[in-house]
Amino acid sequence: MHPGYRLVPCVTDSTSCIPNINNHGAAAASAKKAAQQHSVTVNGKTYETDSWFNTPSKILESTSRRLHLQKDHPVYITRQIIESKFTQPTFKSYNDFDPVVSTAENFDSLGFPADHPGRSKSDTYYINSTTLLRTHTSAHEAQLFRASSSPGYLISGDVYRRDEIDRSHYPIFHQLEGARVWDRTKVPNGDIVKAIYDDLAKLPTHNVQVEDPNPPHHVERNPLQAEHHSAAEAEAVSAHLKRSLELMVVEIFSRAKQAAARQDPNYVDEPLKVRWVEAYFPFTSPSWELEVYYQGDWLEVLGSGVSKQEILINAGVPDQIGWAFGIGLDRIAMLLFQIPDIRLFWSTDERFLGQFRGVSDDLDRLKRFLPFSKYPACPKDVSFWLRPTSAAGGDDRRGNVHDFHENDLMEIVREVAGDCVEDVKLVDEFVHPKTGRKSLCYRVNYRSLERTLTNEQAVTMHEGVRRMLVERLGVELR
Ligand code: DAH
Repeated sequence: MHPGYRLVPCVTDSTSCIPNINNHGAAAASAKKAAQQHSVTVNGKTYETDSWFNTPSKILESTSRRLHLQKDHPVYITRQIIESKFTQPTFKSYNDFDPVVSTAENFDSLGFPADHPGRSKSDTYYINSTTLLRTHTSAHEAQLFRASSSPGYLISGDVYRRDEIDRSHYPIFHQLEGARVWDRTKVPNGDIVKAIYDDLAKLPTHNVQVEDPNPPHHVERNPLQAEHHSAAEAEAVSAHLKRSLELMVVEIFSRAKQAAARQDPNYVDEPLKVRWVEAYFPFTSPSWELEVYYQGDWLEVLGSGVSKQEILINAGVPDQIGWAFGIGLDRIAMLLFQIPDIRLFWSTDERFLGQFRGVSDDLDRLKRFLPFSKYPACPKDVSFWLRPTSAAGGDDRRGNVHDFHENDLMEIVREVAGDCVEDVKLVDEFVHPKTGRKSLCYRVNYRSLERTLTNEQAVTMHEGVRRMLVERLGVELR
């Protein structure tokens, strides 16, 4: 799954992933136009491009789809279910912020260090060096804290990450962000701890088993922001966060189970279990992830924590303290509706969309997706030697120094074959014993969700992939 913005392993620098401007049809033509004009238009707004521009036109065009706003779409329905647990006027919802944001909004305002791997061109789609397609809805936190127009808010939106290709990863997915704050200067008698516990007492309870074995904060693993919060304050905020998010998750999974039970007479109801796990995010401390035990596995469902006080101070509201969370909607929708492949969300096929019609107006009609067919797979391998980098003096005999990043290969596959690829896997890796050159073999699994692909069609796409690997990444095919 998407790595989120925890501590993630360092990535090597990637080289160019500028859309191909030589051939390859309409996508290439508009990329070429963008390169020539040094500008690109996204959702009606025009931006200057520069050497950071690495967003294929297919991705730019998809910014208009906004599945989270498409009534009866599973992503929309999932958003609705979550919103139903955070009610007005405490929580205000924002669902149509533009996905084009600045690096300041997406990273700096949230305290991302300058060398965070999420900032690299191999992980993120840039328009220019200071403008990108948001990688998470947290990009809008600071602006809403600054506006301070309600004690809580929810933001849903499409988010973009260069990533691997498989049935649960797509370069565009959807997140819902939420936050709740209290103001020291506005609570009765200035007692913010009491105010938070009073609000907690007003929340409903639930009877789901919760494992929460860790202390509310830990000096090394999950520190209190001691310069800004007393232990009692952080504990009160955390307690309110945990109950609020448990209630949301209980609602989602109870609905998933009701749908399963309605459709499957043999359905065995296992009690729901959730657990809190310590986490790290640059913009919260202490931080947690919530995991849910569902159909035999612990699933990571959301990230959350006590908001870093610097964010609130920089947003001009230093007297407020509070919590925030972020949840991926597509993954939850896949569980709720038993949707086996994330590409289905982008389908305009009536056999897909028709199954959810009417659910937005009556959530009790939620039902599991019935797969319409599984078309044959057409796997094709590609093996190549990596290009040595100049750092290795044009020679990688002494090591595996190269500038290959897997996400660049994924992008090429997407550009050539779009949604006709189910997954791409590394199946072999090899270092030549004499030359030290490194060779990789990837298996590209061509399979459409909507029709049978002929072998000839798969071969044509695969040839396009092979050609572009050479042209763009300078690899040597084997
Ligand atoms: N932005 C995080 C991600 O994309 C998710 C997240 C984690 C959001 C913790 C939050 C939070 O607001 O407090 O992985």
